[in-house]
Amino acid sequence: MLVTLRVFRLDPTRESEPHYDEFSMEAKPWERILDCLNRVRWEQDPSLAFRSSCGHGICGSDGMLINGVCGLACQRLVKEYPEGLITLEPLPNFQVIRDLVVDLDPFYQKYEKVKPYLITGEQAPERERLQSPSEREVYDEAIRCILCACCTAACPITPKQSEFLGPAALLRAFRYLFDSRDQASRERMEILDREQGIWGCKGHGLCTRVCPKEIDVRKWLGRTKKRLHDARIAAGSQQELSTDTGGQGPA
Ligand code: FES
Repeated sequence: MLVTLRVFRLDPTRESEPHYDEFSMEAKPWERILDCLNRVRWEQDPSLAFRSSCGHGICGSDGMLINGVCGLACQRLVKEYPEGLITLEPLPNFQVIRDLVVDLDPFYQKYEKVKPYLITGEQAPERERLQSPSEREVYDEAIRCILCACCTAACPITPKQSEFLGPAALLRAFRYLFDSRDQASRERMEILDREQGIWGCKGHGLCTRVCPKEIDVRKWLGRTKKRLHDARIAAGSQQELSTDTGGQGPA
């Protein structure tokens, strides 16, 4: 089938306004958008900038806007776009470095804020820290996250609240908050219990819709809200639970 990629182009070192270039080619229906992009770079325009690495939905580096929807170029096949015209743009809400490459530093800075590592305060055992299969299962889905940033780019809160941690960082926070081996619940809840934290999430669910690993991000963020809600009640807090939980309420 004939495929035309309509690609966002911007080199901020030389131009202030972006433009779109079109690249046409014959492609097999089962070829991936990433295959087409590689062919553009090899055969038509070596200056086209985009990221990719594994080519198999593992590294998360080729997140972009594909016909208006955040996704991985290595996961989308050309047959999913039978009209043959595929518009490729950089992930929204991030600064463009060049063409389809965005600056993910703010994304990783927010990720770092949730302390994405086990905190125990205990000497590490000689062998691994044990956990039962059911304890492990609690966050089984959340650890499929590959930090591609599609969810954060799709979240409508991201452009409104620059300090909002965003769904990817909050999902990772959930993972450690619910890890039976972690002993920093109080510290973690303090980080999350604010409008820039878990309460910034209004439950729109676009994160879940675009996640290339099919993680129900909204559900797990809802679980975190409930944990914080329960902790407030358990602490006998007089503070009104006036915080907007986005109509979703504790899950
Ligand atoms: S290239 Fe690694 S996830 Fe697509």
